[in-house]
Amino acid sequence: MKVCVVGTGYVGLTTGVSLAFLGHEVTCVDLDQEKVDMLRGGRCPIYEPGMEELLAEAAPNLTFTTSYAEGVPGADVVFVAVQTPSAPDGSPDLRYLRSAAESVAQSLDHDFTVVVNKSTVPIGSGNWVDAILRDSFATRADRAQDQDARPCEFSVASNPEFLREGNAIHDTLFPDRIVIGSDNPRALEVLNHLYRPLINQTFTPPTFQPRPDDTTAVPLVSTDLASAELIKYAANAFLALKISYVNEIGQLAGKVGADITEVARGIGLDQRIGSRFLEPGVGWGGSCFGKDTKALIATASEYKYDMPIVQAARDVNQRQREIAVERLQSELRILKGRKIGLLGVAFKPNTDDLRDSPALDIAQLLVARGARVKLHDPIAGDRFRREYPEMAPHLSDTLDGVFDDCDAVVLVTKWAQYLELDWGKFVGLMRTPIVLDGRNVLDQDRMERLGFRYLSMAG
Ligand code: UDX
Repeated sequence: MKVCVVGTGYVGLTTGVSLAFLGHEVTCVDLDQEKVDMLRGGRCPIYEPGMEELLAEAAPNLTFTTSYAEGVPGADVVFVAVQTPSAPDGSPDLRYLRSAAESVAQSLDHDFTVVVNKSTVPIGSGNWVDAILRDSFATRADRAQDQDARPCEFSVASNPEFLREGNAIHDTLFPDRIVIGSDNPRALEVLNHLYRPLINQTFTPPTFQPRPDDTTAVPLVSTDLASAELIKYAANAFLALKISYVNEIGQLAGKVGADITEVARGIGLDQRIGSRFLEPGVGWGGSCFGKDTKALIATASEYKYDMPIVQAARDVNQRQREIAVERLQSELRILKGRKIGLLGVAFKPNTDDLRDSPALDIAQLLVARGARVKLHDPIAGDRFRREYPEMAPHLSDTLDGVFDDCDAVVLVTKWAQYLELDWGKFVGLMRTPIVLDGRNVLDQDRMERLGFRYLSMAG
């Protein structure tokens, strides 16, 4: 099938490259010429393991352009995957979505095109995009003057994305489910057809991303527009509250002398609960959980409905960041003038994404209390310097620069490099060898044998 993807961020690029890999003819449109040039050269503008390899494998079916007129005409499906950043009041800023929808409408030229909202958009946006498409299409001079213009129908659908950064290719090729939503059965049929190779898992996986043994077929949830839109928010909020729940229990575990790792394992083995997303620590960050839980609460408030559970998940998550600082303060007593090292700036490993990263908040809280902060990240350093120039002096390119004369280090991001670190080499560099395990992943006995004073988040 012929596919156009508007926007080459995490979601758009992964969608476009994966669909091309599956054999569809894909054109990716992005207004950023620099990005398009990079992608044409086979280079990936984001850090995502495997993406450049997949890009190379999918290249014969892939075109990159800045022009809607090159991508939209003739497309069976147009995915809109532009950014929807948070406006100052927390609501998603839909400027880019509006402008993308208007541009798509100017180029539609096929007997039937499904326009898919792939960005995470507020519930009800499907209808809003539909209205923009129709208004914009109706004003097209080329069609108004051409009495014999070919019939051109279109319909809006939602197809939420559940990929995790750092695992984008795996999650796209071997998803737990595919959700499509539209109020037009024909649109659902087109999307069902588009995703057949994934649903039936009939494709040969890329060599670097073998098919997991338990993936034989992928369930399809084919539903109405509003339900598909709500599924995305409800899923992310549930994952966020699962993490906040284990963090809340973790604090109680610390108080009663229980081991949160054992507790999490003990509850996670109940198949009704499941063991994933029960890893305690400094909590969640990233582009989705914070933004989506906020947007869900905002949508509910439009209906004068409170969502205390979702709100609590947010509050507990923020509190974890503060608890990290409290733990250091209660150990060191005085934070003013202390040097604190933070290992990891990215919101999670295998990405250079810094959005809502716990490390940024923790660093700022520490600086506000007069501490001297040194941050390190194996990958995200350059991006950090670009996006947070005012904090750049706090970045150290070397681990020595972090540990040297340091009063405490906090493991904030679970990068493999930190887990495999020869910690014994660094203990002697520190002024006081305190380590706060912000991800609950270090072996306490081993760290203590090496001479560290080990602190967990749970106290
Ligand atoms: C998330 C969802 O998983 C994905 O389905 C959705 O489409 C986008 O949002 P992502 O933000 O890429 O994906 O990261 P994810 O792997 O979910 O981790 C989110 C945050 O939660 C990270 O900061 C991670 O460190 C933290 N986390 C995750 C925990 O603190 N504990 C856990 O048990 C799991």
